[in-house]
Amino acid sequence: MKILITGGAGYIGSELVNHFIRDHEVVVLDSLMYDATSLLRYSSNPNFKFIRGDVRNIKLLSRLMQDCDVIIPLAALVGFPICRDSPREAKEVNYEINKWIANNKSKDQKVIYPCTNSGYGSRSDGICTEESPLNPITLYGITKVDAEKAYKDVENHVTFRLATVFGPSSRMRTDLLVNNFVLKTLRDRVLVLYECEFMRNYGHLQDVCRAFKFVVDNWDSCKNETYNMGNDALNMNKLQLAQKIQEHLPLEIIKAEFTSDPDVRDYIVSSQKFYDKGFKCQYDLDDGIRQLLTAYDIIESPWYANY
Ligand SMILES: NC(=O)c1ccc[n+]([C@@H]2O[C@H](COP(=O)([O-])OP(=O)(O)OC[C@H]3O[C@@H](n4cnc5c(N)ncnc54)[C@H](O)[C@@H]3O)[C@@H](O)[C@H]2O)c1
Repeated sequence: MKILITGGAGYIGSELVNHFIRDHEVVVLDSLMYDATSLLRYSSNPNFKFIRGDVRNIKLLSRLMQDCDVIIPLAALVGFPICRDSPREAKEVNYEINKWIANNKSKDQKVIYPCTNSGYGSRSDGICTEESPLNPITLYGITKVDAEKAYKDVENHVTFRLATVFGPSSRMRTDLLVNNFVLKTLRDRVLVLYECEFMRNYGHLQDVCRAFKFVVDNWDSCKNETYNMGNDALNMNKLQLAQKIQEHLPLEIIKAEFTSDPDVRDYIVSSQKFYDKGFKCQYDLDDGIRQLLTAYDIIESPWYANY
Protein backbone atom coordinates (compact mmCIF):
# COMPACT_ATOMS: atom_id res chain seq x y z
CA MET A 1 0.00 0.00 0.00
CA LYS A 2 1.00 3.62 -0.39
CA ILE A 3 0.61 5.71 2.75
CA LEU A 4 0.68 9.51 2.79
CA ILE A 5 1.59 11.03 6.15
CA THR A 6 1.27 14.81 6.40
CA GLY A 7 3.24 16.32 9.27
CA GLY A 8 5.30 13.15 9.21
CA ALA A 9 8.49 14.87 10.35
CA GLY A 10 6.92 15.66 13.72
CA TYR A 11 7.03 13.98 17.12
CA ILE A 12 4.54 11.22 16.22
CA GLY A 13 5.11 11.08 12.46
CA SER A 14 8.87 10.57 12.51
CA GLU A 15 8.36 7.41 14.63
CA LEU A 16 5.18 6.32 12.82
CA VAL A 17 7.05 6.04 9.49
CA ASN A 18 9.13 3.27 11.07
CA HIS A 19 6.02 1.16 11.71
CA PHE A 20 5.00 1.15 8.04
CA ILE A 21 8.17 1.47 6.01
CA ARG A 22 9.09 -2.22 5.86
CA ASP A 23 5.84 -3.33 4.21
CA HIS A 24 4.51 -0.18 2.55
CA GLU A 25 5.53 2.83 0.52
CA VAL A 26 5.51 5.90 2.74
CA VAL A 27 5.28 9.47 1.46
CA VAL A 28 5.76 12.30 3.96
CA LEU A 29 4.62 15.85 3.27
CA ASP A 30 5.91 18.30 5.88
CA SER A 31 6.90 21.97 5.93
CA LEU A 32 9.66 21.18 8.48
CA MET A 33 8.67 23.76 11.08
CA TYR A 34 10.93 22.14 13.65
CA ASP A 35 13.47 19.39 13.27
CA ALA A 36 14.77 19.01 9.74
CA THR A 37 16.74 15.87 10.65
CA SER A 38 14.03 13.70 12.18
CA LEU A 39 13.49 11.71 8.98
CA LEU A 40 17.14 11.36 7.96
CA ARG A 41 17.17 7.77 9.17
CA TYR A 42 14.79 6.77 6.34
CA SER A 43 16.54 8.57 3.52
CA SER A 44 18.27 5.46 2.17
CA ASN A 45 15.10 3.35 2.29
CA PRO A 46 13.63 2.73 -1.19
CA ASN A 47 10.10 2.72 0.29
CA PHE A 48 10.47 6.29 1.59
CA LYS A 49 9.73 9.57 -0.16
CA PHE A 50 9.83 13.05 1.36
CA ILE A 51 8.22 16.18 0.00
CA ARG A 52 8.90 19.49 1.68
CA GLY A 53 5.78 21.60 1.39
CA ASP A 54 2.74 23.12 3.01
CA VAL A 55 -0.47 21.09 3.31
CA ARG A 56 -2.33 24.25 2.42
CA ASN A 57 -0.87 23.98 -1.08
CA ILE A 58 -3.99 22.23 -2.42
CA LYS A 59 -2.47 21.50 -5.82
CA LEU A 60 0.42 19.66 -4.19
CA LEU A 61 -1.77 17.91 -1.64
CA SER A 62 -4.25 16.71 -4.21
CA ARG A 63 -1.44 15.39 -6.46
CA LEU A 64 0.06 13.46 -3.55
CA MET A 65 -3.32 12.12 -2.46
CA GLN A 66 -4.19 10.88 -5.92
CA ASP A 67 -2.44 7.51 -5.85
CA CYS A 68 -2.26 6.77 -2.12
CA ASP A 69 -4.33 4.14 -0.34
CA VAL A 70 -4.09 5.53 3.19
CA ILE A 71 -3.93 9.16 4.35
CA ILE A 72 -2.72 9.99 7.85
CA PRO A 73 -3.11 13.76 8.32
CA LEU A 74 -0.86 14.62 11.25
CA ALA A 75 0.13 18.13 10.07
CA ALA A 76 -1.09 20.66 12.60
CA LEU A 77 -0.14 23.50 14.86
CA VAL A 78 -0.01 21.38 17.99
CA GLY A 79 -0.75 22.65 21.48
CA PHE A 80 -2.62 25.62 22.85
CA PRO A 81 0.24 28.21 22.97
CA ILE A 82 1.10 28.04 19.25
CA CYS A 83 -2.60 28.09 18.25
CA ARG A 84 -3.24 31.09 20.50
CA ASP A 85 -0.30 32.91 18.86
CA SER A 86 -1.20 32.00 15.24
CA PRO A 87 -5.00 31.57 15.24
CA ARG A 88 -5.56 31.93 11.51
CA GLU A 89 -2.91 29.38 10.56
CA ALA A 90 -4.25 27.06 13.28
CA LYS A 91 -7.75 27.16 11.75
CA GLU A 92 -6.41 26.63 8.23
CA VAL A 93 -4.00 23.78 8.98
CA ASN A 94 -5.83 22.04 11.83
CA TYR A 95 -9.38 22.32 10.52
CA GLU A 96 -9.84 23.59 6.96
CA ILE A 97 -7.30 21.26 5.34
CA ASN A 98 -8.84 18.28 7.09
CA LYS A 99 -12.26 19.34 5.86
CA TRP A 100 -10.82 19.54 2.37
CA ILE A 101 -9.32 16.05 2.66
CA ALA A 102 -12.64 14.70 3.98
CA ASN A 103 -14.50 16.20 1.01
CA ASN A 104 -11.98 15.29 -1.66
CA LYS A 105 -10.54 11.90 -0.86
CA SER A 106 -11.96 9.05 -2.92
CA LYS A 107 -14.45 6.71 -1.30
CA ASP A 108 -11.96 3.84 -1.16
CA GLN A 109 -9.11 5.84 0.35
CA LYS A 110 -8.68 5.22 4.05
CA VAL A 111 -8.04 8.14 6.38
CA ILE A 112 -6.87 7.91 9.99
CA TYR A 113 -7.08 11.21 11.84
CA PRO A 114 -5.67 11.96 15.32
CA CYS A 115 -7.86 14.18 17.45
CA THR A 116 -6.92 14.86 21.05
CA ASN A 117 -8.67 13.70 24.17
CA SER A 118 -8.15 17.24 25.49
CA GLY A 119 -11.45 17.71 23.61
CA TYR A 120 -13.08 16.31 26.76
CA GLY A 121 -12.02 19.52 28.49
CA SER A 122 -12.55 19.66 32.20
CA ARG A 123 -15.00 17.22 33.73
CA SER A 124 -15.23 15.47 37.05
CA ASP A 125 -18.38 13.43 36.35
CA GLY A 126 -17.13 9.93 35.66
CA ILE A 127 -15.08 8.30 32.94
CA CYS A 128 -14.96 9.72 29.40
CA THR A 129 -15.94 7.29 26.67
CA GLU A 130 -16.42 8.09 22.99
CA GLU A 131 -20.07 8.87 23.85
CA SER A 132 -19.12 11.63 26.28
CA PRO A 133 -19.74 15.13 24.95
CA LEU A 134 -16.71 16.99 23.69
CA ASN A 135 -16.04 20.26 25.42
CA PRO A 136 -12.78 21.72 24.04
CA ILE A 137 -11.50 24.70 25.96
CA THR A 138 -8.72 26.06 23.72
CA LEU A 139 -8.46 27.01 20.05
CA TYR A 140 -6.21 23.97 19.62
CA GLY A 141 -8.92 21.68 21.04
CA ILE A 142 -11.67 23.40 19.04
CA THR A 143 -9.86 23.10 15.69
CA LYS A 144 -8.99 19.45 16.36
CA VAL A 145 -12.56 18.54 17.36
CA ASP A 146 -14.00 20.40 14.35
CA ALA A 147 -11.71 18.38 12.08
CA GLU A 148 -12.80 15.15 13.73
CA LYS A 149 -16.42 16.09 13.01
CA ALA A 150 -15.52 16.75 9.35
CA TYR A 151 -14.49 13.08 8.99
CA LYS A 152 -17.48 11.67 10.86
CA ASP A 153 -19.76 10.87 7.91
CA VAL A 154 -17.03 10.11 5.41
CA GLU A 155 -16.73 6.52 4.18
CA ASN A 156 -13.51 4.76 5.25
CA HIS A 157 -12.36 6.89 8.14
CA VAL A 158 -11.05 6.21 11.63
CA THR A 159 -10.55 8.98 14.14
CA PHE A 160 -8.52 8.61 17.30
CA ARG A 161 -8.79 10.75 20.40
CA LEU A 162 -5.23 10.46 21.59
CA ALA A 163 -4.06 10.71 25.18
CA THR A 164 -1.08 12.90 26.03
CA VAL A 165 1.77 11.05 24.37
CA PHE A 166 5.12 10.40 26.04
CA GLY A 167 8.47 8.83 25.21
CA PRO A 168 11.44 9.70 23.05
CA SER A 169 11.17 10.52 19.35
CA SER A 170 13.54 11.51 16.56
CA ARG A 171 11.70 14.86 16.74
CA MET A 172 11.72 15.34 20.48
CA ARG A 173 8.99 17.32 22.24
CA THR A 174 9.74 18.34 25.79
CA ASP A 175 6.55 20.39 26.18
CA LEU A 176 4.45 17.20 26.60
CA LEU A 177 3.74 16.68 30.29
CA VAL A 178 5.59 13.43 31.03
CA ASN A 179 8.54 14.36 28.82
CA ASN A 180 8.61 17.78 30.46
CA PHE A 181 8.44 16.53 34.05
CA VAL A 182 11.23 14.01 33.47
CA LEU A 183 13.45 16.68 31.92
CA LYS A 184 12.78 19.18 34.74
CA THR A 185 13.46 16.50 37.34
CA LEU A 186 16.73 15.62 35.66
CA ARG A 187 17.82 19.24 35.49
CA ASP A 188 16.48 20.80 38.67
CA ARG A 189 15.55 17.91 40.99
CA VAL A 190 12.47 19.96 41.88
CA LEU A 191 8.94 20.00 40.46
CA VAL A 192 6.43 22.68 41.35
CA LEU A 193 2.95 21.25 40.76
CA TYR A 194 -0.09 23.38 40.00
CA GLU A 195 -3.44 21.70 40.47
CA CYS A 196 -1.76 18.45 41.36
CA GLU A 197 -5.08 16.57 41.70
CA PHE A 198 -6.00 17.15 38.03
CA MET A 199 -6.33 13.86 36.17
CA ARG A 200 -4.85 13.21 32.74
CA ASN A 201 -4.54 10.17 30.52
CA TYR A 202 -1.24 9.13 28.90
CA GLY A 203 -0.08 6.83 26.14
CA HIS A 204 3.40 5.77 25.05
CA LEU A 205 4.46 7.04 21.62
CA GLN A 206 5.26 3.54 20.36
CA ASP A 207 1.81 2.31 21.44
CA VAL A 208 0.21 5.24 19.61
CA CYS A 209 2.17 4.30 16.45
CA ARG A 210 1.16 0.65 16.94
CA ALA A 211 -2.46 1.80 17.13
CA PHE A 212 -2.27 3.42 13.66
CA LYS A 213 -0.67 0.26 12.27
CA PHE A 214 -3.29 -1.91 14.01
CA VAL A 215 -6.08 0.02 12.33
CA VAL A 216 -4.49 -0.34 8.88
CA ASP A 217 -4.02 -4.08 9.46
CA ASN A 218 -7.58 -4.57 10.82
CA TRP A 219 -9.40 -2.04 8.68
CA ASP A 220 -12.71 -3.80 8.16
CA SER A 221 -13.36 -4.34 11.85
CA CYS A 222 -12.14 -0.86 12.88
CA LYS A 223 -13.41 1.44 10.13
CA ASN A 224 -15.88 4.32 10.39
CA GLU A 225 -15.49 4.73 14.15
CA THR A 226 -13.91 7.03 16.72
CA TYR A 227 -11.66 5.55 19.40
CA ASN A 228 -10.08 6.91 22.51
CA MET A 229 -6.47 5.79 22.41
CA GLY A 230 -4.36 5.90 25.53
CA ASN A 231 -3.24 3.52 28.23
CA ASP A 232 -6.13 3.03 30.68
CA ALA A 233 -3.63 2.06 33.39
CA LEU A 234 -2.19 5.55 32.97
CA ASN A 235 -5.08 7.72 34.12
CA MET A 236 -3.32 9.59 36.89
CA ASN A 237 -3.06 12.98 38.49
CA LYS A 238 0.03 15.16 38.33
CA LEU A 239 1.09 14.25 41.85
CA GLN A 240 0.95 10.53 41.03
CA LEU A 241 2.96 11.17 37.86
CA ALA A 242 5.61 13.10 39.81
CA GLN A 243 5.73 10.33 42.43
CA LYS A 244 6.30 7.78 39.66
CA ILE A 245 9.22 9.84 38.37
CA GLN A 246 10.51 10.02 41.97
CA GLU A 247 10.93 6.23 41.86
CA HIS A 248 13.56 6.76 39.15
CA LEU A 249 15.27 9.99 40.19
CA PRO A 250 15.76 12.07 43.34
CA LEU A 251 13.01 14.69 43.27
CA GLU A 252 11.50 17.26 45.60
CA ILE A 253 7.79 17.83 44.91
CA ILE A 254 6.35 21.23 45.83
CA LYS A 255 2.58 21.68 45.71
CA ALA A 256 1.65 25.21 44.63
CA GLU A 257 -1.62 25.86 46.44
CA PHE A 258 -2.45 29.34 45.18
CA THR A 259 -1.47 29.36 41.50
CA SER A 260 -3.55 27.88 38.71
CA ASP A 261 -2.44 26.03 35.59
CA PRO A 262 -3.70 27.62 32.33
CA ASP A 263 -4.18 24.06 31.00
CA VAL A 264 -7.27 23.07 32.96
CA ARG A 265 -7.69 19.54 31.63
CA ASP A 266 -9.08 17.23 34.28
CA TYR A 267 -10.54 13.89 33.17
CA ILE A 268 -10.37 10.10 33.21
CA VAL A 269 -10.57 8.40 29.82
CA SER A 270 -11.39 4.82 28.81
CA SER A 271 -9.95 3.28 25.62
CA GLN A 272 -11.87 0.04 26.17
CA LYS A 273 -13.70 0.37 22.83
CA PHE A 274 -10.36 0.17 21.00
CA TYR A 275 -9.02 -2.61 23.25
CA ASP A 276 -12.20 -4.58 22.41
CA LYS A 277 -10.99 -4.64 18.78
CA GLY A 278 -7.95 -6.58 20.01
CA PHE A 279 -5.42 -3.83 20.63
CA LYS A 280 -3.17 -4.00 23.72
CA CYS A 281 -0.75 -1.36 25.00
CA GLN A 282 2.76 -2.69 25.46
CA TYR A 283 4.54 0.15 27.25
CA ASP A 284 4.01 1.61 30.70
CA LEU A 285 5.24 4.75 32.37
CA ASP A 286 8.39 3.11 33.79
CA ASP A 287 9.43 2.14 30.24
CA GLY A 288 8.86 5.69 29.05
CA ILE A 289 10.76 7.30 31.94
CA ARG A 290 13.75 4.98 31.46
CA GLN A 291 13.77 5.64 27.70
CA LEU A 292 13.47 9.39 28.21
CA LEU A 293 16.46 9.36 30.58
CA THR A 294 18.49 7.60 27.89
CA ALA A 295 17.35 10.11 25.26
CA TYR A 296 18.14 13.10 27.49
CA ASP A 297 21.62 11.67 28.05
CA ILE A 298 22.15 11.73 24.28
CA ILE A 299 20.77 15.19 23.56
CA GLU A 300 22.60 17.19 26.15
CA SER A 301 20.57 20.33 26.67
CA PRO A 302 17.29 19.68 24.99
CA TRP A 303 14.43 22.10 24.87
CA TYR A 304 12.19 21.11 22.02
CA ALA A 305 8.80 22.68 22.41
CA ASN A 306 6.01 23.85 20.15
CA TYR A 307 6.42 27.45 21.30
N1 LIG B 1 1.63 14.50 20.73
C1 LIG B 1 0.48 14.37 21.36
O1 LIG B 1 0.43 14.18 22.59
C2 LIG B 1 -0.81 14.42 20.56
C3 LIG B 1 -2.01 14.14 21.22
C4 LIG B 1 -3.20 14.20 20.51
C5 LIG B 1 -3.21 14.49 19.15
N2 LIG B 1 -2.02 14.76 18.53
C6 LIG B 1 -2.08 15.08 17.10
O2 LIG B 1 -1.10 14.30 16.40
C7 LIG B 1 -0.57 15.06 15.31
C8 LIG B 1 0.95 15.10 15.39
O3 LIG B 1 1.35 15.69 16.63
P1 LIG B 1 2.89 15.80 17.05
O4 LIG B 1 2.96 15.66 18.52
O5 LIG B 1 3.69 14.90 16.19
O6 LIG B 1 3.18 17.33 16.69
P2 LIG B 1 4.44 18.03 16.01
O7 LIG B 1 4.26 19.49 16.25
O8 LIG B 1 5.71 17.38 16.48
O9 LIG B 1 4.28 17.69 14.47
C9 LIG B 1 3.48 18.43 13.60
C10 LIG B 1 4.16 18.42 12.24
O10 LIG B 1 3.30 19.08 11.32
C11 LIG B 1 4.12 19.86 10.47
N3 LIG B 1 3.30 20.96 9.94
C12 LIG B 1 2.69 21.96 10.62
N4 LIG B 1 2.05 22.79 9.78
C13 LIG B 1 2.25 22.29 8.53
C14 LIG B 1 1.84 22.71 7.24
N5 LIG B 1 1.10 23.81 7.06
N6 LIG B 1 2.21 21.97 6.18
C15 LIG B 1 2.96 20.85 6.34
N7 LIG B 1 3.40 20.41 7.54
C16 LIG B 1 3.04 21.13 8.62
C17 LIG B 1 5.26 20.36 11.35
O11 LIG B 1 6.39 20.74 10.58
C18 LIG B 1 5.51 19.14 12.22
O12 LIG B 1 6.51 18.32 11.67
C19 LIG B 1 -1.23 16.44 15.39
O13 LIG B 1 -2.31 16.47 14.49
C20 LIG B 1 -1.70 16.52 16.82
O14 LIG B 1 -2.82 17.38 16.95
C21 LIG B 1 -0.84 14.72 19.20
